[in-house]
Amino acid sequence: MSRAIWIVVKQLFPYVWDKDWRMRARLLLSFLLVACAIALNIIIPLAFGYTIQKITTIGGSSKSLILFIIGGYGLLWTISALITQLRDVCIFSVLEHGVHRLSLSLFDHLHNLSLNFHLTAKTGAIIQALDRAQRAFPDMFWAIFLYVIPSCVEIILASITFGYLYGFGYGFVLFFVFVLYCGYMLYAVEWASGFQRGYNDAQSKTSAWIADSLTNFETIKYFSSQKYEHLSCEQLLLERETAATRRWTTTFIGVYGGGSVIIGISLLIFTLALGYKALYGKLTVGEFVAIHAYFLQFTSSLIDSFAYMVRKIREGLVDMEYVMRIFAIKPDIIEKPLALCMIKQAPHIEFCNVSFSYDNQRMILDDVSFDIPAGKTVALIGSTGSGKSTIGRLLFRFFDVTNGAILFDGKDIRDFSLDSLRCGIGIIPQDVTLFDTTLYENIRYGHLNVSPIDVEYAVHCALLKDFIDRLPQGYQTLVGSRGLALSGGEKQRVAIARVFLKRPSLYIFDEATSALDTYTQQMIQKNLCELSTGNTTLIIAHRLSTVVHADKIIVLQNGKIIEQGSHTELLGYNGYYASMWQQQQTLFLK
Ligand SMILES: Nc1ncnc2c1ncn2[C@@H]1O[C@H](COP(=O)(O)OP(=O)(O)O)[C@@H](O)[C@H]1O
Ligand SMILES: [Mg+2]
Repeated sequence: MSRAIWIVVKQLFPYVWDKDWRMRARLLLSFLLVACAIALNIIIPLAFGYTIQKITTIGGSSKSLILFIIGGYGLLWTISALITQLRDVCIFSVLEHGVHRLSLSLFDHLHNLSLNFHLTAKTGAIIQALDRAQRAFPDMFWAIFLYVIPSCVEIILASITFGYLYGFGYGFVLFFVFVLYCGYMLYAVEWASGFQRGYNDAQSKTSAWIADSLTNFETIKYFSSQKYEHLSCEQLLLERETAATRRWTTTFIGVYGGGSVIIGISLLIFTLALGYKALYGKLTVGEFVAIHAYFLQFTSSLIDSFAYMVRKIREGLVDMEYVMRIFAIKPDIIEKPLALCMIKQAPHIEFCNVSFSYDNQRMILDDVSFDIPAGKTVALIGSTGSGKSTIGRLLFRFFDVTNGAILFDGKDIRDFSLDSLRCGIGIIPQDVTLFDTTLYENIRYGHLNVSPIDVEYAVHCALLKDFIDRLPQGYQTLVGSRGLALSGGEKQRVAIARVFLKRPSLYIFDEATSALDTYTQQMIQKNLCELSTGNTTLIIAHRLSTVVHADKIIVLQNGKIIEQGSHTELLGYNGYYASMWQQQQTLFLK
């Protein structure tokens, strides 16, 4: 538990201790109100006891004084209730602001993590973890700062006051019950947290699985496997249900039940002892009621709020675990402190003895060296899986090379700021994904300041005009999640339009027209050639007819360059390229 408090203070407190002075003032005010509430909680039972004493010794005081004391008691109670509400209002805005900042920083952090993290992470599980963290964050804070710490302070002060007023034996008993109860709670909650972790895992697994199943909607229909999906889903839901039932049973019986038994037995023994004293005249009725009320107030508040809050903290800690683990992952790609800004002009690209592996086990690129002179076009060809797209990813610095270096105008790309590097490169990726919004928003993505005329021109160059004109909603057509409502060729042309708007200094066309028919391909090819004239261009292609015009063609096989030269030179070598060319020509003629 102390670890939980430490984590909250160290890692989460900065999110609520904002630079904004109004937020700080609210937080400090709520702490002040907590202190007032503690003071009132200690005074009220005393006032109650005092009132009883005055009533029972009616002869000793005037009636108006007694009524005044009773009124004062009621007033104190009302003030205490109002303070609690005011404290909650104050802290509410601060905590929600904290949730906002925590979520935003997690969002930014996720975007800074490597592509590999995103390829392996389960989005459904991440969203669920964020959702849980958004609920756990304010709960933990409330619990620690408004309940557990104040309760501990309150009980210690109450025990001292109690002891001072009625004898230190009573104070000691109250404190002893508190320590016993806390000890049990810490143990029980720790024990129950294992079941909560099991429940969280089962829930995340189910959510991630459902998200994956929905993503594969089409495939499931192709193989008529809805029944299988239904059964798998049911199995996971059953596991979740079992984990949830186990979690609630342990919480209610083990944590709350055990705690209530401790308080119940203590109360029984304490009341019996008090009753015994009252019966034998060692206590007045007033004292009996006052001492009993005092004891009851603090022990019942332990049951009402303390146990619940201790459980909330432990659960909150488990709920935050996944998010904390994500925060602990360091981004692989780090910008240098004084990173250079890439100037927008056709750069000269060099790959110097580049080797690369995604997982440090299998080499994907092995000692690759080539260059793309400024403003020239180089084509990369090779069988599938030979590492062509990987070269594109390295240029974007999604990964750093394992060995060697990539130079832009003689400077290592690790010296540039990521933003300026990525701004300078335009890619038509092999797999295009779209945002779940309109076609227009997708085309101008990343260029919020472009005019509709620019968009219109890009659409014209990407041969999308006719397609958009045929759509009933035109530019405002929604493309569906990940662009699933568009065909492969349409998505590819959206990516082409995007690159026409971007106008970078280095172009990468990764099988840019592979999803298009031959006619559209030729038309777009012409536009792409015009676009990239005078700019450094890397074309990755499968159909050799699309790269014959390149200044240099590089043939990649199993991560190694096996041939390079111009189209005619390569044909002259009579090697891999020549045989591929031969093959594709015959296929084409057939
Ligand atoms: N994130 C990844 N983690 C591990 N291996 C990967 C990853 N991405 C691609 N690979 C592997 O790297 C090799 C080259 O991939 P890629 O560059 O996409 O090939 P291609 O030449 O077809 O574009 C493939 O064998 C692929 O399985
Ligand atoms: Mg590829």
